[in-house]
Amino acid sequence: MSRTKRQWGGVAALAALTLLVCSGCENDEQSVLDPVSHPARDIASLWWWMLAGSVVVFLGAVGLLVLAWIRRNRSGMPVFGENEGIARGFVVLFGILIPIVTLVGLFTIGNILVLPVTQAPAAGSTSLTVEVTGHQWWWEARYPGTKAVTANEIHIPVRTRVLLVGRSADIIHSFWAPNLNRKIDVIPGRENRILLYSDQVGRFRGQCSEFCGVQHAHMGLYVYVEPKAQFEAWLERVSQPAAAPSGSEAEHGRELFTSMPCAGCHTIRGTTAAGRLGPDLTHVGSRETLAALTIPNDPGYLAGWIADPQHYKPGNQMPGLRLDDAELQALVAYLEGLR
Ligand code: CUA
Repeated sequence: MSRTKRQWGGVAALAALTLLVCSGCENDEQSVLDPVSHPARDIASLWWWMLAGSVVVFLGAVGLLVLAWIRRNRSGMPVFGENEGIARGFVVLFGILIPIVTLVGLFTIGNILVLPVTQAPAAGSTSLTVEVTGHQWWWEARYPGTKAVTANEIHIPVRTRVLLVGRSADIIHSFWAPNLNRKIDVIPGRENRILLYSDQVGRFRGQCSEFCGVQHAHMGLYVYVEPKAQFEAWLERVSQPAAAPSGSEAEHGRELFTSMPCAGCHTIRGTTAAGRLGPDLTHVGSRETLAALTIPNDPGYLAGWIADPQHYKPGNQMPGLRLDDAELQALVAYLEGLR
């Protein structure tokens, strides 16, 4: 009796641990199971059906194992005893027929019902296009028809069909914002398309989901879904050239930026800085994060990033510059003012 109690105690402890672990997943900013669009909802339903099916199969297999262990000293099956025909029937049923029906069923549902829903949107069925280019290790986003260029933080209007055209500047990456849709690889020399749609306003996290080098994990992105008017205002603002520096320190920062190697890699529209290797910094001060969501965008982190870019993201292409404190502060003052 006490042994049984101890066993139930173990089960309860395991259940509590599972709950504790799962409570860590409650941030649903990046989750397949918190869909905000029709394609993502179909993917989530498929996931739940597959989970339910695999739980049944798993419990069945564990149940049979337990049964075999309990009856390890007895011959024959419970109820049916030693019956060669029934034993063979079980093998055919559970080993051949049920797997065939299950796998064919999942294949059919996945390929005929869910996959077409997540395919690239039909030409002309979208009202906005965002061109996203994967780089080692950040995302560039352009809005054709405007001058807007941003990095890692993509804004789209709510309840609007947006065509995302995915490209790569170097090697294969994969764009995945799981609350909105499935993932698409971005492949050098190719264009892949997917629908970005959300019926909810909010911030959703995405992640590169194809291993692309040492900082693959630090290749995150945000999709901001905004009311239409707010999105239009954002697009209008980021289409403008950079703001003029306010104050002498920021002024000095701009001189440093355009005269130092910074300008060879980064563009700040409205200045002579026109590099294309790193992210466009025209409105960098208005972004929430730096280095593809690796660190928050505030003066302290920005200074740390410029002073030693390899500290937060080893292997990235940004070189460290030998700057004294005053120069660093001037650069930070200028860049944080680019809103
Ligand atoms: Cu880009 Cu992984």
